[in-house]
Amino acid sequence: MANHGLFLHVIFLLLISNTIHAIPPQNPVQCNSTGCILYNSYGVWGDRKDCMVSNLVYPKTEEELRLAVANATMNKLKVKVVTKFSHTIPKLACPTTTQTDQNAILISTEKYASTINVDAANRAVTADSGVSLRSLIDKVEEEELSLVTSPYWEGVTVGGIICTGAHGSSWWGNGGALHDHVIGISLIVPATASDGYAKIIRIQPQDPLLNAAKVSLGMLGVISKVTFSLEPAFKRSITYNFTSDDLIEEQVFDHAKKHEFGDIQWYPSRRTAVYRYDDRVPLSSPGDGVNDFLGFQSNAILVSQSVRSSEKSFENARNVNGKCTLASSFLGYKKLIANGLKNNLIFTGYPVVGRQGKMQTSGSCLYSSSIRIDQACSWDPRIKGLFFYESTAIFPATKFVDFLRDVKKLRDLKPENFCGVDIYNGFLIRFIKASKAYLGQSEDSIVVDFNYYRADDPLTPRLNQDVWEEIEQMAFFKYGARPHWAKNRNVAFFDVPKKYPNFSKFVASKKQLDPQNLFSSDWSDQILFGRQVNKGDGCALEGQCICSEDRHCSPGKGYFCLSGIVYGEARVCRYSMSSVN
Ligand SMILES: Cc1cc2nc3c(=O)[nH]c(=O)nc-3n(C[C@H](O)[C@H](O)[C@H](O)COP(=O)(O)OP(=O)(O)OC[C@H]3O[C@@H](n4cnc5c(N)ncnc54)[C@H](O)[C@@H]3O)c2cc1C
Ligand SMILES: *[C@@H]1O[C@H](CO)[C@@H](O)[C@H](O)[C@H]1NC(C)=O
Ligand SMILES: *[C@@H]1O[C@H](CO)[C@@H](O)[C@H](O)[C@H]1NC(C)=O
Ligand SMILES: *[C@@H]1O[C@H](CO)[C@@H](O)[C@H](O)[C@H]1NC(C)=O
Ligand SMILES: *[C@@H]1O[C@H](CO)[C@@H](O)[C@H](O)[C@H]1NC(C)=O
Repeated sequence: MANHGLFLHVIFLLLISNTIHAIPPQNPVQCNSTGCILYNSYGVWGDRKDCMVSNLVYPKTEEELRLAVANATMNKLKVKVVTKFSHTIPKLACPTTTQTDQNAILISTEKYASTINVDAANRAVTADSGVSLRSLIDKVEEEELSLVTSPYWEGVTVGGIICTGAHGSSWWGNGGALHDHVIGISLIVPATASDGYAKIIRIQPQDPLLNAAKVSLGMLGVISKVTFSLEPAFKRSITYNFTSDDLIEEQVFDHAKKHEFGDIQWYPSRRTAVYRYDDRVPLSSPGDGVNDFLGFQSNAILVSQSVRSSEKSFENARNVNGKCTLASSFLGYKKLIANGLKNNLIFTGYPVVGRQGKMQTSGSCLYSSSIRIDQACSWDPRIKGLFFYESTAIFPATKFVDFLRDVKKLRDLKPENFCGVDIYNGFLIRFIKASKAYLGQSEDSIVVDFNYYRADDPLTPRLNQDVWEEIEQMAFFKYGARPHWAKNRNVAFFDVPKKYPNFSKFVASKKQLDPQNLFSSDWSDQILFGRQVNKGDGCALEGQCICSEDRHCSPGKGYFCLSGIVYGEARVCRYSMSSVN
């Protein structure tokens, strides 16, 4: 009962939180007299080790970018690019493994964001790679054009988006991945001394190099400009249907075919599916709605902290039902406010109709709204609020329904084990089309994201840890899902090269453009080649390895390496009461 009071309190704070003020995320590069540290948005990399950087440059023009690459080529420096956001979770942007490595340089595109050229006649836009998604969209919409797809989160740059294959949701036209709407890329690559040590190559639509450059993990060179194709401006009409999850497997394909921008949020413990009916409507349709997705709004810092502390206390008390109460309160709140859709200033009823630019992506927690410091993105590392893993598995469409059935089997054994994921967004199911990009999807695919609690300490096992490990292994190994390059724990990348029929073409393009491997680091190689690290004690807890011995779990805390329940081949760390006293 005491817990119930806390939830009401949390919900109350959520409701009043609109009246307080916000702080934007901190800069991902933090420097002092001893050097700089590169962070991702959560402030913690997969291995929890800092990325130290001693050389850092901020070019402002394409020529300055070229000179930075020339300097690196001449001095044989390892090079990585970081953006002003650094919203990618794996350590892809870290140039070096050692603290004081003078043989590496980080190029920031934070100050390279001045040009956005809209070519209205050809319905295309070319932007500097440091331009943010929001600036790009606003500029395009001013010219009565629309970018048809984008990730749901606007805290990303033109360069960052395409490097990692970021996407929204659509099986129509070229589909939900933004790189499949790219028609040109300018890439700065190392060159010989006679070519000035670095050159800019302008990759055109017919050039096979475009298939390598469209999704490159930043490993081919520095992207300086990207050209996207556009369509005449349009509006979207969105309705969320909070309903039973009984028929997801029958409805999933139909849903994607019927609704251009449809998705499904699935809350397994609540037996609830939320179908997003999301369709293009003419610009003349009435409505000036905004999609201000709840998860990307600023939250009162107090709320994020109290959610975190209740999660922690449920973890410590092994109180699964406490998590269920929290999940259920949150789901009720999301239904009440339509996940953050607003007809005007608030939600007054479905459908919500608004311009594509206001409906396709959001991220209001990115912006400060006043000098008072009360709110932030709920995961901002400075506030010690939410801290979670983000797993994203991309399934060949033909395998998705079997995966869903397996998850339902596991759910039906003990639905409350799934409450932890339902505190976040459950399973978010989205759609992307087959792509020619060598590191993209070779067939029509279904993307599933799920977020779940991460402990403050790497050696602390988590409640229902075995369930999440089993689902992770089921997705990536039983059903051959590919990992989203910008998310996931290390495990998801194991053996990744096998999953891309054109992987060798990517590697060949890299050899051609960057023969000295300047744009590779141990970190990006680990991800691209799916390398497994040394299996130390406790390595499975944070997804650094798959356990094969108890010591990879936490036998001292009662977690042993055991088989999966529905997917017998999975090896997971499971709490076993009988073995501890
Ligand atoms: C809250 C949140 C929500 C998200 N939602 C979605 C979503 O809905 N859909 C989705 O697909 N993804 C989503 N993501 C992931 C996000 O889209 C990707 O992480 C994206 O790549 C981040 O872009 P960035 O500009 O921050 O790039 P960074 O993280 O800074 O960089 C990404 C990679 O690209 C390289 N790079 C960047 N710019 C260049 C350049 N100019 N030249 C060469 N290399 C470069 C970097 O070295 C790094 O390897 C989300 C992430 C967060 C934190
Ligand atoms: C600043 O310096 C201290 C050592 O004096 C170091 O431990 C810390 O990590 C540094 N912080 C940054 C952001 O570089
Ligand atoms: C050139 O590289 C050196 C490190 O070797 C670095 O200190 C310097 O800032 C770089 N200059 C430019 C313009 O990139
Ligand atoms: C919501 O979905 C259910 C199940 O598909 C369906 O029966 C119902 O008609 C839908 N409601 C609306 C408002 O579309
Ligand atoms: C990628 O691989 C597939 C499957 O082998 C092949 O059909 C396709 O032509 C390849 N694409 C490119 C652009 O080479």
